[in-house]
Amino acid sequence: MGTIAANDVSGTVEPRPGIAVHCRELTKTYGAGAAKVAALRGTDLDVRLGELLMVAGPSGCGKTTLISIIAAILEPDSGVCEVLGHDLRHLNPSERAHVRGVTLGFVFQLFNLLPALTAIENVAVPLQINGVSRKHAEARARDVLEAVGLSSAGVRSRRSSAVASSNALRSPERWCTTRS
Ligand SMILES: Nc1ncnc2c1ncn2[C@@H]1O[C@H](COP(=O)(O)OP(=O)(O)OP(=O)(O)O)[C@@H](O)[C@H]1O
Ligand SMILES: [Mg+2]
Repeated sequence: MGTIAANDVSGTVEPRPGIAVHCRELTKTYGAGAAKVAALRGTDLDVRLGELLMVAGPSGCGKTTLISIIAAILEPDSGVCEVLGHDLRHLNPSERAHVRGVTLGFVFQLFNLLPALTAIENVAVPLQINGVSRKHAEARARDVLEAVGLSSAGVRSRRSSAVASSNALRSPERWCTTRS
């Protein structure tokens, strides 16, 4: 996780020293009536800066729901979630997108690549969204693809879907995107 300037977005809260993510009493329910599912029922979580953490549990226990709330993709029904000093409850949709865009990186299980783009272009997209020029974003993308042994795939104009599927078959963990 990176850092963002405190005045970039609203919802700034008193910093919690050494804490990157602070969640208290999170609840989230899907559906209604007989189809109602309580995915989170008062979840607390603190993640320290620099901590490597694995969330484990049986299918349906609420892992994706919890991570989606921390990533500002999903809003909880109640509870507090602060990410790098920003209380997500107080952010509007564009501020939530900004926090997500500059502080979080995702490695998706199903890749979620843009199939029309090359590998380099896919890796460069988040940087360009954050204002980095195409030239610099693609240079950085080239560097990180090289670092994970995918430089030849990225430099050639092969479409990313072909790269991803061929690498997925051999080594799914090697295909990832990186934020600077
Ligand atoms: N959009 C939704 N609508 C209705 N119910 C949902 C929705 N998303 C998740 N659920 C339900 O909420 C519960 C928690 O789901 P969630 O996806 O967070 O679990 P998970 O721990 O990530 O599961 P898995 O290990 O299978 O990925 C499950 O019972 C699931 O069926
Ligand atoms: Mg899940």
